[in-house]
Amino acid sequence: MKIIEHLQWRYATKKFDPTLKVSEEDLMHLKKVIQLTATSYGLQAFKVLIITDPAIKKQLQAASWNQSQVVDASHLIVFCNSKSVTHEQIDAFIQLKSGVQKIPLDALDGYGNFMKNKLGELTTSEVNEWAAKQTYIALGNLMVACAELKIDTCPMEGFEPEKYDEILDLTQQNLTASVAAAVGYRSEEDKAQFAPKVRKAMAELFVEL
Ligand SMILES: Cc1cc2nc3c(=O)[nH]c(=O)nc-3n(C[C@H](O)[C@H](O)[C@H](O)COP(=O)(O)O)c2cc1C
Repeated sequence: MKIIEHLQWRYATKKFDPTLKVSEEDLMHLKKVIQLTATSYGLQAFKVLIITDPAIKKQLQAASWNQSQVVDASHLIVFCNSKSVTHEQIDAFIQLKSGVQKIPLDALDGYGNFMKNKLGELTTSEVNEWAAKQTYIALGNLMVACAELKIDTCPMEGFEPEKYDEILDLTQQNLTASVAAAVGYRSEEDKAQFAPKVRKAMAELFVEL
């Protein structure tokens, strides 16, 4: 039942205490959580930027509806998905899998070709959407892991992705910002922490067949 307590405790933090920082040890734990997140085919078609530089945060705030979380949170984590998945990326994954799981490369040929074919059937924008979805799973895991450590988060879609791509030089790397999370510690003054959760009733949300 602990997870319910953690999910009740967490809330989308509106006002962070800018003096409180997430420790290196906790950050390493959170990075591990993101690294271990399941992804489609295991391809991990994303990169995760962890931003603490105040000047970069300031630029990003201007591209984030001026939301204060971007500058006040200890860390701003920006999930960036691959805009396309190249055959080289798939080959690199197969190489990694072969090494880690001690499977001969040729035994993985079928899997590699299957992924190339399946992703090849998608348009560029479909690949982009598919890759972006993977980042939300990592975001979800991150939020739960933070709550377990009593670290606050604000998941954030309220930003202009094109501006993030420019500020963070993502386009050159075939990446685009999909979603972000401000991570840190709530300000005592944040009224949002006292608001009861607004959720649909179980009977409305679930259908049992
Ligand atoms: C993908 C996603 C994007 C969100 N973007 C923002 C945002 O840009 N700014 C913000 O203050 N809250 C944002 N939220 C927070 C939601 O409004 C909030 O999670 C929801 O109202 C439920 O409240 P709770 O998280 O406090 O329980 C976002 C939430 C999610 C899941």
